[in-house]
Amino acid sequence: MTHPATSPNGRRKPRQNKDGTSVSSDILSAAGSIPSSCLHRIFRAAEAKEEESGTEVVKLHVGDPYFDPADNVADAFVDAVRRGETKYTGVEGLPELRAAAVEKLRLDNGVDSAVSRLLISPGSCQGLAALLQSLAEPGAEILLPELHWPVHLQQSVLAGFRPVLYALGDNFRPDPATIAAAATPRTRVLVINSPANPTGVVLDRDEIAALLELARARGWHVISDEAYEHFLYEGEHVSVASLERDVPVAERIVHSVFSFSKSFAMTGYRLGYVALANDHAADVMKVTQEANIIGTSTPVQYAGIAALETRADAAATNRKLVQRNRDVALSPLVRAGLMNELPAGGWYAMLDVARTGLDAETFATRLLERKGVAVVPGNGFAMRPDVDEQGRIRSHDFAPWARHLVRVAFCVDPASLESGVRKILEFVDECGDAGAGSSR
Ligand SMILES: Cc1ncc(COP(=O)(O)O)c(C=O)c1O
Repeated sequence: MTHPATSPNGRRKPRQNKDGTSVSSDILSAAGSIPSSCLHRIFRAAEAKEEESGTEVVKLHVGDPYFDPADNVADAFVDAVRRGETKYTGVEGLPELRAAAVEKLRLDNGVDSAVSRLLISPGSCQGLAALLQSLAEPGAEILLPELHWPVHLQQSVLAGFRPVLYALGDNFRPDPATIAAAATPRTRVLVINSPANPTGVVLDRDEIAALLELARARGWHVISDEAYEHFLYEGEHVSVASLERDVPVAERIVHSVFSFSKSFAMTGYRLGYVALANDHAADVMKVTQEANIIGTSTPVQYAGIAALETRADAAATNRKLVQRNRDVALSPLVRAGLMNELPAGGWYAMLDVARTGLDAETFATRLLERKGVAVVPGNGFAMRPDVDEQGRIRSHDFAPWARHLVRVAFCVDPASLESGVRKILEFVDECGDAGAGSSR
């Protein structure tokens, strides 16, 4: 699986993956060793298709909502700009916003945080990146599921972690025994993402308690990515940190990451927050953020205060919109046997297109070419990197069982989603039943 970095004449050899694609010509940096994500490839392909055909592509590849933030959010942003609230805030964020987030965590999530341990970030993605940088130790390993959000993997490598991917059980659910077996003495962090991107799996209280118990017993940190906390269609959202409410603060291990993007349709505002487990972790992350961002946009933080004031209505309205999409538009895909059940949470569904006889990459490429519908090939969520001692990806392959999976985002406007689903079904019919049935 390894490739020597240089040829006998000392020149760098272009490195290749098993599928023959080259990773990167820069073999020196960890960043240069990260392959571009499946999401960005399909993003560019969809744009090129629109340009070339002059018609709009049905975009089922990105998690951008079709609904907008409530008016009070835009008003608060504009008012803050007009009032001249456009100077730096402290690196931690505006005290009023942090206090509002702490109160929201207490009331809605059952999480006992504190303003001193809560940091605002420009999007939860950046909060996650900084958190990983804060926790990384030389040689440390991080546990991610074999089917994961590619950004978790990319950020882990960028921060200096060696990602270790553990197999998921039935219906993509994590199994503590499998995770324990995948861990090594170098393991430092377990990532939990419920509701999950890309699977839509929602973990119940017992499952989360078992993962937390394992992490505590092994002395790991837990990162809980709760970007989709308000998008539950079955079951309840359990914040991992709520299960260690009664643990003394200094002994807590759960760092929780939240986003304004999904709950309040604020993707372009770029706003999130991280509730650190304890004061030490918060102090370290403040230094990390000073170096990364200096601070989060000030007027955007005022918009965030407004969003939290009206959060119950906004989150409930937005959940209903996405749930209606799920119930109405995705049901034909279940009836057609492309998925077993509707996702319990989140914004994405995984389809198994094995019966078309096409691998997911080919399926997505042809679907875009012939029907003008963009979806993401599932193997991009199942990359298995081979990471060297310096934390660089030497080569990678994909979990073979993911080769027939494609991800569909169902947060788009209902008419586009319904037309996209209709075209997917037409395309599957046109392919015929060439494959051998479900791959998993
Ligand atoms: C699992 C997960 N976490 C975090 C994010 C980041 O959200 P943002 O940076 O917009 O807050 C996303 C975005 O798609 C996501 O899918």
